[in-house]
Amino acid sequence: MSEQETRGGPNEIERLDREYTLGTWTRQRDFDPTQIVDTEGPRIVTADGDSLLDFSSQYVCTSLGYDADRIADAVDEQIRTVPYVNPGWATEPRARLSEKIAEITPGSLKKTFYSTSGTEANEVAFKIARSYTGKHKILSRYRSYHGATAASLSASGDPRRVAQGPEIHPEVPGMVKGPDPYAYGSSLDPDQSLEYIDEMLKLEGGTVAGVLVEPLVGSNGVLTPPDDYLPRLQEIAHDHGAVLICDEVMTGFGRTGEWFASTLYEAEPDIITMAKGLTGSYQPLAATTVTEEIADHFEDTLLNQGHTFAGHPTACAAGLAAIETYEEENLVENAREMGAYLKAELEALAERHPSVGERRGVGLHQGIELTRSEAERVPFEKRSDKVSGRTTVLDEVGARAKENGVYFYTSVNTIVVTPPLTIAEEHVDEAVAALDDALEISDAAMDD
Ligand SMILES: Cc1ncc(COP(=O)(O)O)c(C=O)c1O
Repeated sequence: MSEQETRGGPNEIERLDREYTLGTWTRQRDFDPTQIVDTEGPRIVTADGDSLLDFSSQYVCTSLGYDADRIADAVDEQIRTVPYVNPGWATEPRARLSEKIAEITPGSLKKTFYSTSGTEANEVAFKIARSYTGKHKILSRYRSYHGATAASLSASGDPRRVAQGPEIHPEVPGMVKGPDPYAYGSSLDPDQSLEYIDEMLKLEGGTVAGVLVEPLVGSNGVLTPPDDYLPRLQEIAHDHGAVLICDEVMTGFGRTGEWFASTLYEAEPDIITMAKGLTGSYQPLAATTVTEEIADHFEDTLLNQGHTFAGHPTACAAGLAAIETYEEENLVENAREMGAYLKAELEALAERHPSVGERRGVGLHQGIELTRSEAERVPFEKRSDKVSGRTTVLDEVGARAKENGVYFYTSVNTIVVTPPLTIAEEHVDEAVAALDDALEISDAAMDD
C-alpha cells in the first residue's frame, strides 16, 4: 500500500503536483508522487511522517546524504555575493572548482566545460570528440544510458531509446552500438565483446570520433567489467583514431571507492563526463573534462557551445563545497570500506535467496540481478518492461522493501543498491534485513 493510500488519499500538495506537473518517464495516469517534507542523514521523510532509509541515493546522486551543511552555507554565501554572472566573466567558485576537478580526475584531464545535466555533459563530449578527431560517429553500447535529449538518447542502448517510434524520437545518425561486458546475461563473454568492438571500429572505416562507455554500467544492470577491460578498450579506440569518453555521471565522486571509476580500472580517458555526485545533487551542475591536448585543439578552433547557466556561480560553489565534504569526511574511503561490508552482506543474501542470480558492483555501486530460474538464468523482466508501465516482480520487491522502511531503485531486472557515501554498518544491516524479507516475493515467483 502506498503512503497516500495509508493516509486515506493524497494531501493538498500531492493533488496540486499531480494536477499541474507533468511527470518524467511515465504515462501520466501512473504519476502519483508522494510528498517528501524533510530529510535526515541518509533518510527522507514523507508527509505522513514515514522515515525511509534511502539506499538508492535517489537516482544514484545524493551521495552526501541530506545534511551536508557546508554546501548549504556555500550556496547561501554565493547567492548573497555574486548570485549570477554570464559565463564570460570569471568567478572564484568556478575557477577553484575547475582546478579541483583537474586535481582529482585521472591522467592529464585538465580543462572543464560546465553544463547542468549529465545529458548535456555527454552532448558536449560528442561535439568536442568530433571537432578534435575530425570524425563524426559515436560508438556506445547496448546496455547503457547517456541522457534524454536527441543525441544522448540516440547514444543510449537503454529501452527508453526505442520506447517511441521515429515520429517522436527520430534517432540522430552516426550512433553505432556494440556489445557490453555482461558475463551473466549475454552469450558473448567480455573478451569477445571487446574483440567485437575492435572489429566494428575496423569496419566503420575510421569514421568513429568517440567510444562512449559507463566504466561500470548503472541503470542498465550494474555491470562490472573485467579489470583490464577499460585500458584495453582505450587502446582499441586509440588504434582506430577515436577518443575514449567515460560517462562517470553515476560512478564519479567516490561511489566506487575511488574518485572516478576510471581510476579504479587504471584508465586515463580522453574525456570524462560527470554530474550527480559533483554537488551531491544539491544544485544542478554537470561537467565535461578533457585532456590538455584536447583543450589545446580549441585554442584556435571555435568551441561552438554554451549555456546561460554554464558554470553558474551558485552551482559551482556547491560543487566545491561538496568536494571539500567528500575530502574532510573521508567519504571516498568510507565508500570503499562500507562497499566491502555491503558486498559481503549481499553475497550472503544471494546464498539465502534462490531468486538472486548474481551480485555485481564495486564499492557503494552494487546491484543484484534476479532470476526466475537459477539454472537457466531467466530474467523476471524483459528490457521492454522498463517502459511498459506494468507492475513487475521487481516493483513488488521494491514496494515490500519500502514498507519495511528502505527505499531501493529497481531497474529492469536489477535492484540497484547505491546508498549515500555517508552510511555506516548499521544502515547496511537495516537495508539488508528489509531486502531479505522482500526477496521472499521473488523467491515465491520463481518457476518450479
Ligand atoms: C550514466 C549516466 N549518464 C547520463 C545520465 C543523464 O544525466 P541527467 O539525468 O542529469 O541528464 C545519467 C542519468 O541517470 C546516467 O546515469
